[in-house]
Amino acid sequence: MRDDQPAWFDESNGTWSLFRYNDIVRALRDTDTFCSDPSRSLPPELSENAEGSMVSIDPPRHGRLRGLVSHAFTPRLVEQLGPRIEGIVDDLLDRVLADRSGRFDLVGDLAYELPVIVIGELLGLPASDRDFLVRCADEFYAVEHDDPFNGEYMESMQSTLDELNAYMLDHARLRRREPADDLMTALALAEIEGERLSDREIRNFAVLLLTAGHITTTALLGNTVLSLGENPDVMAAWRAGTVDPAPVMEEVLRHRSPFTEVYRFTTTDVEIGDAVIPADQLVRVWLVSGNRDERQFADPDEFRLGRTTGRHLGFGMGIHYCLGAGLARVETTAALRVLSRRTAEITPVLDELKFYDAPGIFCLRSLPVT
Ligand code: HEM
Repeated sequence: MRDDQPAWFDESNGTWSLFRYNDIVRALRDTDTFCSDPSRSLPPELSENAEGSMVSIDPPRHGRLRGLVSHAFTPRLVEQLGPRIEGIVDDLLDRVLADRSGRFDLVGDLAYELPVIVIGELLGLPASDRDFLVRCADEFYAVEHDDPFNGEYMESMQSTLDELNAYMLDHARLRRREPADDLMTALALAEIEGERLSDREIRNFAVLLLTAGHITTTALLGNTVLSLGENPDVMAAWRAGTVDPAPVMEEVLRHRSPFTEVYRFTTTDVEIGDAVIPADQLVRVWLVSGNRDERQFADPDEFRLGRTTGRHLGFGMGIHYCLGAGLARVETTAALRVLSRRTAEITPVLDELKFYDAPGIFCLRSLPVT
């Protein structure tokens, strides 16, 4: 597709797709032409969940909202979470290392729950609600379907989303009445141009953190351990401490991007290659394809450390660049650090891998290691 149809119209669901790195960068940077507001192209029942959720808003309001919450995600604050996150990883590993004589499921037993616990703590949600949050996430991703516009998939996702929305709304209202030292309180009390965020905006942002920050981080950790398993020389260097986790993670973000695609909506007719995408179309922007574009990365299918970092599209680009990128890196680094300390060896059982079959993500569902 990258060579023959860089902009492709899918007649089965009426969407356009972009595959080449440069076209993707253009779509992510040119927010006047490729906006993020779904109400342009989707019916209200599908777009209302996005209201006030920053990933679905355009400038200038996007910048104000992002400015407001980004103080909770500064590199310094996020770095400070490292030791606490290592503690959570230690607790999760205590459970499995005690039980199962060295063999465990790196995703099912560790990588899946870790981000939910971290985001729950950031938002100040009670630890007793973790099972509920994990169940909601299960229901989002357990759906086996490769078409995100499939009605059945939308419907099953919607009922879980309704439940999660109601839960977050209650919590946001609670924090307006009883402030605490957490992100939900900061959102509940914050003002943009003299206006408080509405309950629905807070709710949607909290749900966004959970949906954007959970399975993607699970994927980054799982995909990193898988790549280490497939590249024994890199595994040995990491074990010996001669290679840092950072360049390994960056190459994983390119080579096995957790988030495969993001969406944009055209505001006007736009020419890409030989095609003209009309206004008001939904465009699937294939990060995973841009990250394997041979025009940008030599031998893109090879896992190779030391490619210039920062050029990959794993965290997106432009104004919607992932707000939680630093947090995801700190979580993954913390987990790798504890794994390195607590295990003599980690060998992925490569013929027993299971992947999620949910749209939009490239994530292991099970990664047995010995
Ligand atoms: C946005 C990927 C972890 C919160 C994005 C985008 C990507 C992405 C590709 C851009 C979306 C777009 O352009 O439409 C990832 C990956 C992660 C990860 C691969 C893990 C490896 C997290 C975490 C959080 C988070 C841990 C927070 C707890 C967000 C938010 C946005 C976002 C709030 C919207 C930013 C905006 O619209 O300005 N992420 N993400 N992400 N991510 Fe992440």
